[in-house]
Amino acid sequence: MIFSEDFVENVREQNDILEVVSSYVTVAKKGHNYMGLCPFHPEKTPSFCVYHSTNSFYCFGCGAGGDVITFIMLAEKLQYREAVEFLANKAGISIPKYDENDDFLDRKTIFAMNRLSAKFFFSCLMDRENKLALNYLLSRGLLKKTIVHFGLGYSKSDGYSLVNFLKKNGFSDEKIEKANLGVKTKNNFLRDRFVNRIMFPIIDVKGNVIGFGARSLDNKIPKYLNTAETIAFNKSENLFALNFAKNQEYFILTEGYMDAVALYQLGFKSAIASLGTSLTLGQAKLISRYTSKIYVCYDSDAAGRKATKRAIEILKKENLDVKIIEMKDAKDPDEFVKINKGQSALKFKFLIKSSKNSIEFKISELENKFDINKIEEKVSFLKEVSKIISEIYDPIERDVYSSKICSKYGILKSAFDLKIKKNLQKKNKIALASLKKNQKFAHSGSLYIEEFLISCIIKNNDLMVYFDDFSGNDFSDKVSSELFIKIRALLSSGKAVSFSSLSAGFDQKKTGEISRILNLNASVDVSESEFLKYFGIFKQRKEINNFKLSENLEDNKILKFLDKLKKSKV
Ligand code: UTP
Ligand code: MN
Repeated sequence: MIFSEDFVENVREQNDILEVVSSYVTVAKKGHNYMGLCPFHPEKTPSFCVYHSTNSFYCFGCGAGGDVITFIMLAEKLQYREAVEFLANKAGISIPKYDENDDFLDRKTIFAMNRLSAKFFFSCLMDRENKLALNYLLSRGLLKKTIVHFGLGYSKSDGYSLVNFLKKNGFSDEKIEKANLGVKTKNNFLRDRFVNRIMFPIIDVKGNVIGFGARSLDNKIPKYLNTAETIAFNKSENLFALNFAKNQEYFILTEGYMDAVALYQLGFKSAIASLGTSLTLGQAKLISRYTSKIYVCYDSDAAGRKATKRAIEILKKENLDVKIIEMKDAKDPDEFVKINKGQSALKFKFLIKSSKNSIEFKISELENKFDINKIEEKVSFLKEVSKIISEIYDPIERDVYSSKICSKYGILKSAFDLKIKKNLQKKNKIALASLKKNQKFAHSGSLYIEEFLISCIIKNNDLMVYFDDFSGNDFSDKVSSELFIKIRALLSSGKAVSFSSLSAGFDQKKTGEISRILNLNASVDVSESEFLKYFGIFKQRKEINNFKLSENLEDNKILKFLDKLKKSKV
């Protein structure tokens, strides 16, 4: 279990760093801060500093630093969670009791209620009494079997049918409210959340009914009402119809429930839709778990095109191969299906075939934006296009686009390429600057990281496999570097790594250091993921060091690396 941000923040606030530190180290006021002998490395002159104003500490000698939680982790040799608990107890804050099973059971109950409700909505839709609802769907071109397949339904207009039905089935008011199937009125009366609407059950990939999308039948606003956030439903982390599309080779991403349903009926089983919000990174991640190729097929109006541009950027972040389907004469896929009648399947296949990639789409957006017949606009247009082409990592790919644009717009390729080169230089300069900033960041605390890694290797020699591509030179700290070389030598000659074998040949001052490093996490179990987190930073630093300022600025190598860096989020 993870503590909530609020809880941890409260623990931090209730533990004054100066007070906490003072029970381990004697510190004296110096200027704005407090200095003392570092408890984490042997020293004679104080280099350990407490910054009272920011509730943090840093040792100029060994590089240890952080907030009050980090301090306790180091001082008491505790894991993060243990340190938080330690400090919570110290400040008399009660630690939240939390049983993962509780939450899971609650979610399971909501899934069961949702499933039952979906069945209820379906039976209402099929009820003759409500034939207006069914007629509505039929008039929109849906076949009975599509309605059954998606389990569409109808929420009656009386405003209490579902709540009564659920209560009859033994669910309490509290649970019904928690599932957002009922809502309390001002008079504390529980009534249906969904009234006189077509119901679209939203089903996750495991088959759980996690929530509903609901379209109004009487022009009530909002046109679509979704289940609010519940512990079982997070609309920014799920997608409509993913349960049906998940095994398809590619996905077709649409804006609306009806679009996904209409495309499915037409034979495109890969259609999915977001849940009433613009696409999120979480959804892109989810998509990338099932496919690497996605066609974006949003509404054809200006808002839809704008949303498309946004979606491209988000999907690209997950390395998805993004294609854009454009409909000329229809507002959305649902309308496209309707307009083209018997021909729609064939025509939609053609649209898929002639879909654009993201670069082509962006260029065509610019073509629409500028009036090429005016000289100035043509210049601006070409400059904008050059920027888009500069985003491409692969030089051959860049050249293909550049050639195409130059011949299409009758300009000299050498001039256009020069512009691209300049764009790249500019971008790379910025990238390099940010890389250097990163480098600084990577270097701060590097001592602790190196010592930590060494202590891990000493504790578990198998971890040495991670260091195949590393040498002593990759450690900036002298002792860590020497220890690394020694450990490698010991292991390769089949000798045991112990305090005595490690400290042989070192003077007394160093053996003290070695002992300290050896004991850094002697009393705690370091998880592999924790080790890998630090190892990741260490490895990254080596990669950053490999970049020289003299790097070829006409290439996108640095940008690509930065991209990777951002993705790894260490
Ligand atoms: P649209 O307004 O484009 O509707 O909303 P649509 O899909 O074409 O609907 P029909 O064809 O009139 O039935 C697209 C999507 O945006 C979300 C819904 O997910 C909808 O499917 N939406 C829209 C809302 O969440 N709330 C709204 O009020 C409107
Ligand atoms: Mn529509």
